Amino acid sequence: KYEKIWLVFGIASLIVFLSVVGVSAFSQDHTPAGGMETIDPKKVNETAPFDNPGVTQLDDDTYQVAIVALAFGYTAPELKVPVGKEIVFKVTSTDVVHSFTIDNTKVNMMVVPGRITTKSYTFEKPGTYLILCNEYCGTGHHMMYTEIEVY
Ligand code: CUA
Repeated sequence: KYEKIWLVFGIASLIVFLSVVGVSAFSQDHTPAGGMETIDPKKVNETAPFDNPGVTQLDDDTYQVAIVALAFGYTAPELKVPVGKEIVFKVTSTDVVHSFTIDNTKVNMMVVPGRITTKSYTFEKPGTYLILCNEYCGTGHHMMYTEIEVY
């Protein structure tokens, strides 16, 4: 009698185990490399949001900043964002691997051609922050920087 209970329990655990494995494999399949979206590097300038790079207000508390990194700079018109709001950075590259690093913050993204890298950040203090490239990308690497103003 007890053997039957354990057999049922064993089969039930096996089913639970297999469905957990199945579900996680399935969901990983749909979020390759940590949820990064892909993009055709040759069509960046005609693909939203990079067809109109810069700051876009999404709602009362959220702003999106779309930026293209390429040797040796960032397509960033005038970057001004408010303090204390969620800023969603979306960055891609049209040539080689760069980084999008905001000095004195935890924003340090690797920017890969063919991928859209996304990072949310909320600035706690107003000021002018330096954005720079931390990934060696060629002879102009040290010239690759811009600024973002937090008001
Ligand atoms: Cu771009 Cu270093």
